Amino acid sequence: MTTVIPVGLITISDRAAAGDYEDLGGPALHEACRENGWEVIAEAVIPDDLEKIQRTVLAFSTQGCGLILTTGGTGIALRDVTPEAIRAIMRVEIPGFGETMRMRSLEITPNAILSRSLAAIVERSLVIALPGKPSGAVECLSFVKAAIPHTVKLAMGVPPSC
Ligand code: MTE
Repeated sequence: MTTVIPVGLITISDRAAAGDYEDLGGPALHEACRENGWEVIAEAVIPDDLEKIQRTVLAFSTQGCGLILTTGGTGIALRDVTPEAIRAIMRVEIPGFGETMRMRSLEITPNAILSRSLAAIVERSLVIALPGKPSGAVECLSFVKAAIPHTVKLAMGVPPSC
């Protein structure tokens, strides 16, 4: 039996949060989740602010999101703090996710080396920090999606079957 994964989506961008441009990353990830048979139960567009990122991730986790996808703020611009925000509240990081996303993305663009994308367990949620470019976020999600259902089960405390 397949379990529907409850998902929270967080777009992290000063400009999208200010309404200076349309959030395209959130809707692109929403569609990818729908195609995977997962249910998006919470969405937010927030600025590149460490505390706001942490508060939103923790609130979505409390709401029951087994999977929380963030998009944006993984690079090296002055305001990019997504990895720092997540690392300060995580229980463990899962380096294989970041390694895989960068390795596979480098086949598409050399700029993928700039992304500090990562995955971590926060409370009972798997949090995956994806790059901000909508196509990049969807690509990165596709590279790791096969491992997501099992990881979410473990994060949510479902007894493992392997
Ligand atoms: N990964 C994929 N698969 N495709 C992309 O287009 N863009 C890169 C990188 N990772 C990209 C990608 C670029 S240009 C940057 S600057 C970094 O992600 C960080 O993006 P962010 O700061 O918006 O999170």
